[in-house]
Amino acid sequence: MDSIRIQGGIALQGKVRVQGSKNASLPVLAATLLVGEESLIRNCPRIADVYSMISLLKSLGCSVHWQKRGIAVDSSQVRRAEMPKDAVKGMRSSLCLLGALIARCSEVVMEHPGGCVIGERPIDLHLSALRQMGVEFTEEEGCLRAVSDRLHGADIALPFPSVGATENIVLAGVMAEGDTVLEGAAMEPEVSALCLFLQRCGAWIEGVGTDRLVIHGGRRLYGTDFTVPADRIVAGTYLFGCIGAGGNVLLEQAPEEEMRSVLEAAEQMGGRVYASREGIYVQAPARPAAIELVTAPYPGFPTDLQSVVLAVETRGKGRSRIRERIFENRFRVVEELEKMGASVEVDSPESVLVHGVETLQGAHVEARELRGGAALVVAGLMAEGETFVGGCPYIYRGYENIGRDFRELGARVASV
Ligand code: UD1
Repeated sequence: MDSIRIQGGIALQGKVRVQGSKNASLPVLAATLLVGEESLIRNCPRIADVYSMISLLKSLGCSVHWQKRGIAVDSSQVRRAEMPKDAVKGMRSSLCLLGALIARCSEVVMEHPGGCVIGERPIDLHLSALRQMGVEFTEEEGCLRAVSDRLHGADIALPFPSVGATENIVLAGVMAEGDTVLEGAAMEPEVSALCLFLQRCGAWIEGVGTDRLVIHGGRRLYGTDFTVPADRIVAGTYLFGCIGAGGNVLLEQAPEEEMRSVLEAAEQMGGRVYASREGIYVQAPARPAAIELVTAPYPGFPTDLQSVVLAVETRGKGRSRIRERIFENRFRVVEELEKMGASVEVDSPESVLVHGVETLQGAHVEARELRGGAALVVAGLMAEGETFVGGCPYIYRGYENIGRDFRELGARVASV
């Protein structure tokens, strides 16, 4: 099931439920390590990255069971803090186990974390913040060893609001001695979800949802029952899928509050969007209007939806300018879209000009990373004829079942 076949040109109709958030589930699952009791995490998506996180937690000695109600994690028996190389390589979010494990076990050995092949993705901000909190790092045979005899609070200012670094600081901070004041924190809703989970467990964190977090460390944490919010990136993918392919859809449980910049972009593209208690209704324009888009840290437009908008604008009315400000090397999808007849000029590693064409043609294309892969599926829905998207394991890292979800909306999509 490495490919997806799409018969394009069918307008989307109907409703689809939006899965739980990948980027919230992963740090929350990592945080269960700090609890030392059983926690129940509901609404985690059944995706490859969550399965990898579960195997990592198991390899560290946690008992993890996926029940009907959610994932039950009991971390009372955590024995070791050495992470299996293969699991870490495949998933950058294994990095957030670093803050949790150093807090729990005082020593961690891990390989340089992997993740999507976008940009260099350094981890300097994680390391310098944790150093300020009393962690020493050494490198041995390609592995990173972190040791801390006494984890303590610190005043930290992040020069860039890194999501992962903020999460690591929060995870280490709740267990550290004293207070941690973090200026320049990432404000992404997934950081807030992590803080809310920890607050439920008994942690004391102030400023949740702002760029200044104060974490009062050293409180005992208790197991809890927590529901992961819906995935704003998956919701956005289906929303732009509708704008590109046409039709009107209801995205059940889509988190409207967290999607302001996304809904604004959809409206600029000519879509009509209405939020209700059921979710977000989207009505597509006859053809998307061109757009000027810049990605930015939250509450700005999310980098994870940049490729999907790019794909939709290949059929836009006129020229769209798209600037990528978070990751370099995030335009790899362009080469594949060109096989479908798209006209895109990459003027720099962070900017493209998309010349909208009347129609795309189906083709054989290859996903090279998660979000670019989802963008190719959307392009396939918009194209005339049949499209085969290869490399789908990348897509399954973040989407439970993108084919099933678009089929719910009337598209002709099959896994092959
Ligand atoms: C998280 C999300 C990812 C999303 C990204 C930005 C998860 C599992 N992944 O990734 O889907 O695209 O936020 O919203 O939640 N940087 C450094 N040094 C560091 C850390 C980061 O220079 O130590 C740079 C990165 O190279 C990148 C930028 O900061 O250019 C943003 O990275 P960051 O916010 O840390 O993203 P992730 O946490 O990796």
